[in-house]
Amino acid sequence: MEKARGGMVSESQVEMVEVVLPNDANPLGNILGGKVMHLIDMAGAIAAHRHTRSVVVTVSVDNLDFVHPIRVGQLIILCAHVTRAFHTSIEVGVKVYREDFLTGERRQTSSAFVTYVALDEQGRPTKVPPVVPRTAEEKQEYREALARRRYRLAAAARAHRRYFEKQKKETNQ
Ligand SMILES: CC(C)(COP(=O)(O)OP(=O)(O)OC[C@H]1O[C@@H](n2cnc3c(N)ncnc32)[C@H](O)[C@@H]1OP(=O)(O)O)[C@@H](O)C(=O)NCCC(=O)NCCS
Repeated sequence: MEKARGGMVSESQVEMVEVVLPNDANPLGNILGGKVMHLIDMAGAIAAHRHTRSVVVTVSVDNLDFVHPIRVGQLIILCAHVTRAFHTSIEVGVKVYREDFLTGERRQTSSAFVTYVALDEQGRPTKVPPVVPRTAEEKQEYREALARRRYRLAAAARAHRRYFEKQKKETNQ
């Protein structure tokens, strides 16, 4: 599908639902953080694929908190959509909810912004179509995405510099 003029946020929307099973839980009966991270990455990647219609790789996940536990037998629900495209990268917002299927109570447990990079057939970063925000909420997320991008790129540059400086020191010793 040709999307050079951009895609609407709603076209990338993803909702994934799973029942939490004992195999995905810690001894307290709560879902493992790693399982939640895996599902966030999956839901986010599907939203990014829907928008870009190309292969994408995860390049960054903003800070992630687990605010409420999700227990074995409850549903874990992940909602993802693109917020803004840059040149070759795209930011996706993912919200995680738990739902008790007996009472129907739904509560948000985590949220994250994940950045994906689209790759061409040679595995090189390739241009992504712009995101066209329509609603007031989409427009706000779109505006704020620029500040998030500046912050995360600056943080990554600082972290990588520290890492490579440490490596250099170790090899010089
Ligand atoms: C993603 C990858 C191809 C980018 O390579 P690169 O040499 O940094 O390429 P570039 O410098 O051209 O950056 C490509 C895009 O990534 C963005 N990017 C790079 N590092 C980033 C970070 N830490 N956070 C957010 N975006 C980042 C750049 O801003 C650029 O986006 P833009 O074109 O929209 O401005 C490369 O880092 C990679 O292969 N990483 C591993 C991906 C992977 O395997 N993920 C699965 C988990 S291991």
